[in-house]
Amino acid sequence: MSDSITDQFGRPLRDLRISVTDRCNFRCRYCMPAEVFGPDYAFLPKDEILRFEEITHLVQALAPLGLRKVRLTGGEPLLRRGIDDLVGLLAAIEGIEDLAITTNGVLLAHHAEALALADLNRVTVSLDALDPEVFATMNGVGAKVDRVLTGIRTARLHGLPIKINAVIQRGINESEILPLVRMAREAGVVMRFIEYMDVGETNGWAMKDVVPMAELLETIQSEFPLEPLDPTEPGEVAKRYRLSDGSAEIGVISSVTKPFCRDCQRLRLSADGKLFTCLFAAVGHDVKDLLRHEASDEALRSFVSNLWSQRSDRYSEERGEGSPSKAEMSYLGG
Ligand code: GTP
Ligand code: 5AD
Ligand code: SF4
Ligand code: SF4
Repeated sequence: MSDSITDQFGRPLRDLRISVTDRCNFRCRYCMPAEVFGPDYAFLPKDEILRFEEITHLVQALAPLGLRKVRLTGGEPLLRRGIDDLVGLLAAIEGIEDLAITTNGVLLAHHAEALALADLNRVTVSLDALDPEVFATMNGVGAKVDRVLTGIRTARLHGLPIKINAVIQRGINESEILPLVRMAREAGVVMRFIEYMDVGETNGWAMKDVVPMAELLETIQSEFPLEPLDPTEPGEVAKRYRLSDGSAEIGVISSVTKPFCRDCQRLRLSADGKLFTCLFAAVGHDVKDLLRHEASDEALRSFVSNLWSQRSDRYSEERGEGSPSKAEMSYLGG
């Protein structure tokens, strides 16, 4: 039985992005700058973090509202102990057709087999550079690119389809665009380039640091002619292309220069159980209390239906019109 709900702009609720931890083993400058997220940073205490049963209860209650996609994010979701158990619990929920995880890939080789056995559908790996020095500088902790590449290969060996995300920043990693496309052709993965976004309050974002979609495409086309592909579903964040020789799929995520709020069907759950109706929302709506007081499925659906029916977020389309302080991406999930 399905009882779809829509928001103020008629957008359905289809995707839930779940942050399972606000911690990360990287310190990418654009997300968790080391001077802010240092040794004294107050991460969420353990008892504030949703347990697997609580997350599963929420997803199972929301599935009848039309929820189809679930993505696990962080911070770094592979840091959460027993993450493959959560994958198994979520994969078993009727109606969830697409279960994915977004990871920085450093721990992926170790987890790939268990994730595949738990019925994860696919993996998205964030990888901003192949050059070891550029990569080490961007991840802020000197992590080695080879470990991520091994993680990708291992996940592929266990049958997991892979997408790679690269955030491109002016003057930092534009030189990595073509090498990443070449790698995608060889590795048999989808390669997506992301415009640097003004998410959170700590990364010092400025428009001059954004490499716009048009320029990303121009750079790729200088070596690889592209053909546009049709969207696979409404609300897809990436505009998709194929290399004309058919050797790889490329996507560009242009939330700055060409926002895609019109079809946005994504709800976000923070690790401490707050629901956010937009990546750029300042305020989350606590659902942990309900979950910890054994609320019925009906009560959870009613809470979320009510929240969703009032939703009118379209931050990326309104950018520049001023906004209150925004939550950090490492807390909210990307
Ligand atoms: P697919 O289902 O594989 O297309 O994944 P996805 O694009 O939904 O997820 P992913 O975690 O790979 O996100 C890619 C990039 O798009 C990240 O930088 C996200 O922060 C950004 N993104 C995802 N959803 C939204 C959104 O609702 N709004 C904005 N502005 N950016 C988003
Ligand atoms: N702009 C664009 N993408 C970002 N991500 C993290 N911070 C930003 C930002 N400021 C990306 C990560 C990951 C995805 C979930 O979000 O690199 O691929
Ligand atoms: Fe960690 Fe991903 Fe943020 Fe980098 S972008 S600090 S890998 S959560
Ligand atoms: Fe959705 Fe908000 Fe992103 Fe627009 S800015 S696509 S409304 S999450």
